[in-house]
Amino acid sequence: MRPYVYITRKLSDTVIAPLRQKFTVNMWGHEEIPVPKDVLQSEAKKADGLLTMLTDAVDESVLSAGQQLKVVANMAVGYDNVDIQAASREGIAVCNTPDVLTDSTADLTFALLMATARRIVEAAQFVKEDRWKSWSPFLLAGHDIHHKTIGIVGMGKIGAAVARRAAGFEMNILYHNRTRKTEIEEKTGAVYASFDELVEQADFIVCLTPLTSETRNMFTRNIFQKMKRTAIFINASRGPVVNEQDLFAALAAGEIAGSGLDVFEQEPIHSEHPLLTLPNVVALPHIGSSTIETRTAMMKLCVDNIEAVLTGKRPKTLINKEWLQKV
Ligand code: DGY
Repeated sequence: MRPYVYITRKLSDTVIAPLRQKFTVNMWGHEEIPVPKDVLQSEAKKADGLLTMLTDAVDESVLSAGQQLKVVANMAVGYDNVDIQAASREGIAVCNTPDVLTDSTADLTFALLMATARRIVEAAQFVKEDRWKSWSPFLLAGHDIHHKTIGIVGMGKIGAAVARRAAGFEMNILYHNRTRKTEIEEKTGAVYASFDELVEQADFIVCLTPLTSETRNMFTRNIFQKMKRTAIFINASRGPVVNEQDLFAALAAGEIAGSGLDVFEQEPIHSEHPLLTLPNVVALPHIGSSTIETRTAMMKLCVDNIEAVLTGKRPKTLINKEWLQKV
C-alpha cells in the first residue's frame, strides 16, 4: 500500500509531482475555499500525511482521527492553527515554512508601513476618480518615514529583516522581544526596549509576534492610548494579537494617526467591517508572503517535509522537536 497524502487546498500539479511519484495524493478541489472540517477529519482518518493551510484548524479531533497520520506540513511560518501538544502526543511530526518567506513578508510589511504613512492607496484612488485638479502644497500629505523611530514587536527572522529595511531608511530602531538579539542590534543598530517604552516612543509600531496565549489581545485601548497621537500601527502577524474594537476606537478618537493591517481577528473581513470605514486604515487580505516565488517555495518545502517523514528521514523544518525522540 502506498502512503496516502491529503492536501487541503488546490495546489499546482507541478509542485506536488514529487509526492505523486511515491504516494497516493488527493487534494481539496478549490483554491479559494477552505476545506470543511468534516472533510478534513475524514481525510485525516485515512492519511499518512497532511499538507494544511493556516485556515485549517488542525486540532485534536483531526490529529487523533486516524491511526497512521505521521506528518502535518503547514503552509505558513505561523502554526497557531495546529495543536502542537496533541500532535506530539500522537507521535505526529509538525512542520512549518520558515526562512523561505522571510524577505517577501518583510517587504510587504515595509510596503504596508509606507502605504499607510504616505497615503498611497488613497492617493491612487484620488487619481483614478479624477479628483486631481492641481498640484497643491498639502495635497494628500502623509508622514515622513526616514529618520523616524520604528518599534518592532517580535524580533524573529521577519522582524530582523524589517529592521534591515528600516536601517536603509535611516530610521531609529527599537524592538521588543522575549529575548535580546545582540547580533541584530549590532547589524542594524536596533535598541532593545520594554514594551511600554516602545509603544510610547515609536512613530511606527510594527507587530510581528507569533500568536500565542501570551500575545493574544496584546494591543488593547490602553496600549493605543500610550502611543503618540501621530503613531502608525502596523500588524502583519496574526489578527487576534490586536483587539480590533479597541483599535477602531483609538483610530476614531484620533488617539493614533493610522493603521496598516494585513491580518484580522476573523478572516476574511467584508466591506461592512468598521475598520474599513476609516480613511486612515490600509487593509490587505493576509498577503504577507504572497509572491509567486515565495508561495511556490513554501509549497515545495511542505512537499519536501512530507516526503522526508514518509520515507523515514528527518524533515527540514520540524516544529515539535520532541517528535524525534518518538521515532
Ligand atoms: C505565515 O506564513 O504565517 C503567513 O501569515 C502566511 O502568509
